[in-house]
Amino acid sequence: MQKINAAITSVGGYVPETRLTNFDLEKMVDTNNEWIISRTGIEERRILKEPGLGSSDMAVPAIQEILRKKNLNPKDIDCIICATVTPDMVFPATANIIADKIGATNAWGYDMSAACSGFLFALSTGAMYIESGRYKKVIVVGVDKMSAIIDYTDRATCIIFGDGAGAVLLEATAEENYIKDSILKSDGSGRQFLHMKAGGSLKPATMETVLAKEHFAFQEGQSVFKFAVKGMADVSAELLERNNLTGDDIAWLVPHQANLRIIDATANRMGLSKDKVMINIQKYGNTTAATLPLCLWDWESRLKKGDNIILAAFGGGFTWGATWVKWAY
Ligand code: UT7
Repeated sequence: MQKINAAITSVGGYVPETRLTNFDLEKMVDTNNEWIISRTGIEERRILKEPGLGSSDMAVPAIQEILRKKNLNPKDIDCIICATVTPDMVFPATANIIADKIGATNAWGYDMSAACSGFLFALSTGAMYIESGRYKKVIVVGVDKMSAIIDYTDRATCIIFGDGAGAVLLEATAEENYIKDSILKSDGSGRQFLHMKAGGSLKPATMETVLAKEHFAFQEGQSVFKFAVKGMADVSAELLERNNLTGDDIAWLVPHQANLRIIDATANRMGLSKDKVMINIQKYGNTTAATLPLCLWDWESRLKKGDNIILAAFGGGFTWGATWVKWAY
């Protein structure tokens, strides 16, 4: 029997209108534009600031763009996997809320919590549902409303993160252009460096946890930086090596947009020149699960059928990994 392969056949994205610039942040915390640009590469981020809107409200327009482009009925979607650490609610899953809002009444779905590697992990999982032959159309969406969990008096985190959503459609293909290979990793011993202290079952919300600001993202930046540089570069190099690829074979690196210096280190290790690296951190900041699909969304018109693309991520958990995709359209 011929093996079924999974291809990315469409991309959609959404970022909120409101821009939070480095100059805005200068007025909020003790920081400055030069420091932020030289240490991270970020110039501005988008913020979903209207009250009453959550992550699902960014995922919905990203997926609707795909439905429009592919002329699909929402009822055709079999499954929605939503990668996020900022779900609308702790439960039910944001994927279910998204399905309801877009009218995907035949879809089942769930959320995947793998922080900045969430989209990569969900992409691999979604591809396997297609490869199994059981499902024909799977949506993988990476979305985070990081502004909901950021303390805008903490200069260590508020300069980094932004809000956004990106989605892809996965379908079966008989061609050679499909999701070829992945190496995915996690190491829970890194949890101390990047986490939310309270609000989970370990430390439920109390007046004290709120006053102690324990419902915001906490990051020990330097420690995460060291692991990220090594983790993302190592796994990307390993993926190339085991598939007998070199930097010359690669059309694009799609790196998680956490820090320009981590992106540069990964590209160098893979032997890639900067013109082959997708970088949009300057305008969106770190949107956690949305960075990779937002890059694909921004670059979609420049991608060519058969392009070898490496997606790579590193994030809280720790979680990290790299995926080789041959672009299908
Ligand atoms: O996406 C999930 C994974 N996350 C990551 O990959 C993030 C990894 N980490 C990073 O990207 C970097 O560690 C940061 C961008 C978060 C911080 O950059 P850094 O170069 O590691 O800075 P640092 O924390 O070592 O701080 C250097 C100096 C310190 O001052 P002193 O002690 O040298 O006088 C900080 O107090 O910069 C100071 N500093 C700031 N100054 C202006 C820290 N934050 C700021 C700020 N503005 N926002």
